Amino acid sequence: MKSRTLVFKFGDKDFEAGINRAADIIREGGTVAFPTETVYGLGADALNAEAVHKIFKAKGRPADNPLIVHIASRDQCSELAEEIPADALRLMDLFWPGPLTLILKAKDIVPDVTTGGLDTVGLRMPENPIALELIRRSERPIAAPSANTSGSPSPTTARHVIQDLEGKIDVILDGGPTEIGLESTVVDMTGDVPVILRPGHVTAENIRECVGDVRIGYKDRTLEEGEVARSPGMKYTHYSPKTSVILIEGDVEDVRKAIEEVVSECHQEGERVGLLMTEETAEFVKADEIYFLGKRDVPAQAARSIFMGLRHLDNTNLDLIVVDGTLNKEGIGAAVFNRLRKAADRIINA
Ligand code: TXA
Ligand code: MG
Repeated sequence: MKSRTLVFKFGDKDFEAGINRAADIIREGGTVAFPTETVYGLGADALNAEAVHKIFKAKGRPADNPLIVHIASRDQCSELAEEIPADALRLMDLFWPGPLTLILKAKDIVPDVTTGGLDTVGLRMPENPIALELIRRSERPIAAPSANTSGSPSPTTARHVIQDLEGKIDVILDGGPTEIGLESTVVDMTGDVPVILRPGHVTAENIRECVGDVRIGYKDRTLEEGEVARSPGMKYTHYSPKTSVILIEGDVEDVRKAIEEVVSECHQEGERVGLLMTEETAEFVKADEIYFLGKRDVPAQAARSIFMGLRHLDNTNLDLIVVDGTLNKEGIGAAVFNRLRKAADRIINA
């Protein structure tokens, strides 16, 4: 029989009691999905190997993909990480609490299942007050990947978590839609120069301004066979709906024409097409279903919408999803394109 997942909703009378219940469940070795400012996380006591195993099982996550450990104080940071470099302290001062994960040398108390067998650990102090309260009240560091089935688009609402994990986890804390909409920036602080392993809301420029230098250590496409991943998460398919996704990039006019061609070819075959579109492009093209990414020059709006949009279109019985790649690539736009390129089965340069 499926076990029951308790859901507590912000604004309801029992929400405060719900956070306490969730904190007890973390202490007892159970699993709790909770909102952060980026996406929903699926948490368990980071120092309890058996509890962390439950996360991998619920998500169907490959065992060598390490988890980010969420903390609520600098003291917790020193309990988990060895030798915190001066640059890491500077980044913490500027960006914590917030959407930045720092990879540091791990202390031995962090179990292998949490670090994916690495000698490093990813630490992040989230800004969302519900996340912080859960960590404080449980008095545990909380290991939490995104609260989705491994490989599917990340969850930005409690509904997404329910779709993927209901019956497989103990509690969901529903704090409404997340603000940023895509996952934290991951930065490796164990070498001479910080290396960005995953782009996010905190940009390369932000990091360079803070510590002087930074390198890009990620690729937007899943690795080719034989390539070595610095971050184990890089080598797996990500963010993909079940429906095929085509991303079309290039000049505005060329993209518009290419989208029209793809749509008309599909319609000739009797197929249904959905579009994930900027408002500007959508003025010109028609399809069976459209989900808006906002205005071309506001990548923060697209960041909030891409996972929601991919999930929505995936549930509307389409044969193909076409994504409008005319979005601005500056700032958080780099992170938006990283997720879109990984989600795409095919990328067309129009
Ligand atoms: O915003 C976020 O980071 C969300 C929320 C819940 O905090 N969490 C999240 O976790 O996105 P997850 O597991 O979906 O992604 C964690 C990424 C993976 O690509 C993983 O490989 C990488 O961080 N990572 C974690 N620990 C690492 C380590 N020690 N060394 C290198 N990469 C690491
Ligand atoms: Mg994830």
